[in-house]
Amino acid sequence: MAFIKWNPKLAVGVDIIDTQHQALFDRVNTLFDAMQAGHGRDEIGKTLTFLANYTVEHFKTEEGLMQKSAYPGYKDHKAIHDDLTQKVVDLQGKLDKGSQMLSLPVMHFLRDWLTHHISEEDKKLAAHLNQVGLR
Ligand SMILES: [Fe+2]
Ligand SMILES: [Fe+2]
Repeated sequence: MAFIKWNPKLAVGVDIIDTQHQALFDRVNTLFDAMQAGHGRDEIGKTLTFLANYTVEHFKTEEGLMQKSAYPGYKDHKAIHDDLTQKVVDLQGKLDKGSQMLSLPVMHFLRDWLTHHISEEDKKLAAHLNQVGLR
């Protein structure tokens, strides 16, 4: 069974954002599977990089839409993105050094962060984008 599962309640109503969120979920599941399979540090590192790169790309997409639409919550939303990006960079560093393993609590943190962020911040952004007709 998938570790993080998409459901229609998570749809924000802006196609590009919804498509990217589903792709993000796929990558989180790939990382979870790699952890469960007991893959080595190199393999986990590669899978995490695959997820991290896509996350950065996704954040850029949202932030671009925020700027184009003069979204009033831009600063706060971007700060939340930057905070997660930094956490992932820190995690990558710790995994590289071998001072931390990818653990179930880390996976739970990622899952909770994503579902909470989509349900709160991304839905607010999507409502604004739909309101101004930019989507
Ligand atoms: Fe976001
Ligand atoms: Fe998002």
